Parts: sequence; C-alpha cells; structure tokens
Amino acid sequence: MAKSTLSFVCQNCGAAYNRWQGKCESCGEWNTLAEEDTSGSVPVSIRSKRKGRTFALESLAGKSPDAPRLSSGMTELDRVTGGGFVRGSVLLVGGDPGIGKSTLLTQATSLLARTGHRVVYISGEEAVAQVRLRAERLGLSDAPVQLAAETSVEDIVSTLSEGAVPRLIVIDSIQTMWTDTVESAPGTVTQVRASAQALIRFAKKTGAAIILVGHVTKDGQIAGPRVVEHMVDAVMSFEGEGSQQFRILRAVKNRFGPTDEIGVFEMTGLGLREVTNPSELFLSERDLGTPGTAVFAGIEGTRPVLVELQALVAPTSLGTPRRAVVGWDPSRLSMVLAVLEAHCGVKLSGHDVYLNVAGGLRINEPAADLAAAAALVSSLVNAQLPTDAVYFGEISLSGVVRPVAQTPARLKEAAKLGFQRAVLPESARGEPGGDAGLSLNAVNSLTTLVAEIAARGSRRGESNPPAEKNATPARFRRGDG
Ligand code: TYD
Ligand code: MG
Repeated sequence: MAKSTLSFVCQNCGAAYNRWQGKCESCGEWNTLAEEDTSGSVPVSIRSKRKGRTFALESLAGKSPDAPRLSSGMTELDRVTGGGFVRGSVLLVGGDPGIGKSTLLTQATSLLARTGHRVVYISGEEAVAQVRLRAERLGLSDAPVQLAAETSVEDIVSTLSEGAVPRLIVIDSIQTMWTDTVESAPGTVTQVRASAQALIRFAKKTGAAIILVGHVTKDGQIAGPRVVEHMVDAVMSFEGEGSQQFRILRAVKNRFGPTDEIGVFEMTGLGLREVTNPSELFLSERDLGTPGTAVFAGIEGTRPVLVELQALVAPTSLGTPRRAVVGWDPSRLSMVLAVLEAHCGVKLSGHDVYLNVAGGLRINEPAADLAAAAALVSSLVNAQLPTDAVYFGEISLSGVVRPVAQTPARLKEAAKLGFQRAVLPESARGEPGGDAGLSLNAVNSLTTLVAEIAARGSRRGESNPPAEKNATPARFRRGDG
C-alpha cells in the first residue's frame, strides 16, 4: 500500500513533522511549517530486495593527490578559501541582500575568465541585462564569462554538460533554483535541498567548482537551507555594516582550508577593492583624544589586525542598566564587567555600558579582554588612554591577565603602524621575537591596569573637582560628577 508522503517541513531549519503546528520545536521559529511532498525516495519494497555491493576499505595512511586549486586572482578571496577554489567542490556564499555578493562573484568570475578558463555565471534573480549593466559599471564587460538567466536545475545541468567542463560555475542564488524531481514550490526547503543536491552531484562528477549564493535571514542564518550548509564543502559569509564601505568575507566552514581567515574588501563606486592592510583601514578614522577608546592588537587567522574598541559608560537611573555590544561576544563583556566589579572595586551596576568594535569587524578572540577593560575603565573615569598604545591579553575570572598566542606578530604590526607602546600580559615579555621596538608595559593583574588608568583620570580631574563625594571611590567617579 502506498504510504502518504506529505509532511510539514520547517522552512527555517528543515525539521519535518506529521502534523501542522504553529511553532517549530527544533529551531523555535513561529509559522515556518509548510506542507511538502517528501516522496522521491525509493519505495521500501524495492529497497529491501537490492543486494549491497561491496567496496574496498582503505587505510588512514597513504597518499592522496593534493586538491588541485584554481586561484581566483583576488588575494583576499583566495586567503579565505585557503588558496583558491578546489576542483569538484561546492562553496556556499551567504550574506544580507545588497551586501555585494553578486558584485564579488562578478569580479571573481571575470578575472578567471580573462585568464582563459571556462567560467559560467547563472543568475536566477536578475535578468541578463542587469548582470551586464553591473559588469559594465565594474569595467569588466570584455571578460569572456558565459552568462545566463535560468532557474531550472535540469536545464542548467544539461547545458553545462555540453562542451568543455567549466572550471567555475556561479549559481546566484540557490533559493531561486528548482528541480522537476520534487513537487514543492521554489524556495522551499525541499526544493533548495534537492536543487543543491543535483548541483553538488554535477560538481563531483565533472570536477567543476560551483559557488552557490545563499540569502541570509535577519538573524544571520543562511535562509531556509541550513541543511545545505551540511552538504557543501565550504560556507562563507559576506558581512558588513550597511552604513560602512568595509566588507568582510569569513569562512564559517571549510573542508579544504582554515576557518579563521578573513578577507577584507572596500565597496567603492567601481566595485569591491581588496584591502591588503586592514589595520590601516580600521584605524583610519580614529577618534584621537577621546576617553573610552583603546586599540586592540588582534589576530585574524594568520594576519594581525589592529582595531579600535570604543566604550561608553554612562550613569543610569534604570533599575537594570543596559549592556549593549556590537562586534564582540556579549557574554565576554559580562565577564569582564564582573571581574572589574569583583576584583578591582569598579562599581558598574549604576551605569549603562556600551561597547563597539569600530569598522564593523567582529572579534572572536579572548585576547580582546584587556583592550575592552581598558576602554571601559577609561570611559568610566573619563581619562583618555595613551594614543600610541595597543592592548591585548585574556582576563581570567580571578582577574589575572593571561598570555595569548602570537605576541611577536601583534607587536610587529603595532610597530609598523607607528605605535610606541604595548600593554600586554606579564608572561609575554620574555617571548622570543623581541619587542619590535615598542616599550612594553607588562601587567599581570587587571587591578594594576585599572589603577594606572584611574591615576591618569585623577591627575586630569584635579582642576575640576567632582560635585558629589563618597558614593564611589573618587578615582572611579566620572569627571562630570
Ligand atoms: P550586489 O552585489 O547586487 O549585492 P547582493 O548580490 O549581495 O545582493 O550589490 C549591491 C550593492 O552594492 C548596491 O547597493 C550597490 C552597491 N554597489 C556599489 O556600491 N558599487 C558597485 O560598483 C556595485 C556594482 C554595486
Ligand atoms: Mg545579488
């Protein structure tokens, strides 16, 4: 007897249910279940009769030929992919609408096509004329990219199977693709998954590299096909603040390379420009001479990146003070605030705290703790930090400043950009690699740093005595009272 194959599939995470319900229990989203026909699998009666084929088992040791890579001609893109597109691999590029995905891929495909490779760009969202217009704006109209506006996966696969195998195929975007093999509407999880599967199969069979463009929902997930993330070889996200021209390409998953590298671009009137020295860019609009800013010497992948942390600590009358952070982990901010309260006598329960990483960069390193703490205390006591100093170090719950990796690279980058001092963990001082000509201020506990900054604040504040006394220790009161 034929089994019913209708089920309700969450359009956000792909979880399937027998009955309709308002909330998806898997991802917690509301109103995301849609009825879909999930047939297409082999009937049980046929499946059970088939005798399994035997296959050879291999050992872990042994040589596999290196994955042949195709350099895109864009250093920043190659850095993130781990040295170029891998033959037969599928890459998913996610990002907000309008962030520049199509621009990036138009540029990459044009550069590749100019070097003589067969490159195909399939647009499911824009008409051929629109893609041409963009290429014209980018000055790339002469590049021999093969272009089409198509959405049927079967038609695409048939067309691409003819002639030489393309080295690179861009599908912009996977949400617009549909295949005859499943009944659901385009854009549903079932369709997206089946289309991606067909394209992945084509890539593995022919050795062509495929880039799938994916949309991102407002909470940062690649919309719908979270399932696709598991199927592809690499996932990249293209990020940036709408108001700023910086764009950051980040590897979220990469079967053939590192996941901690970032590529930095700047969106200009003539397309994306590669930024080979991001520190210069992130520090270009520094607000010198303002309390509450500290420069963090960070590492992104293999590359040191200097970036400014900006803090604002302001008194509040609300029972629950606000804690807002952009570009950093909110739980790390809470931890730094707790350590400041518990070990350094810095009372922040009556203050709103805001922390921002300038330039739209998102920092994941714990090494930013020390710079964040310095910026916070500097804002609280209204004392400017030295403008020629960089900060890095991890803070433990006991208030000890712990060592971090790659001290020499951080110091070298700071020296290159004209910084004179570094505030860093005590144990980093003796590291091989020297001080790169910087004067080093090693701190082993956060209390030391807080005392140093507070001393700057009280020296400054002597001329304008604060209005209110005794509520908090004088050195932690804001200058404006
Ligand atoms: P696009 O690549 O279409 O974004 P996505 O494919 O991610 O949706 O880029 C759209 C934005 O980029 C659009 O707002 C205009 C801007 N842009 C430039 O600033 N300069 C350029 O040279 C191009 C082509 C686009
Ligand atoms: Mg686009």
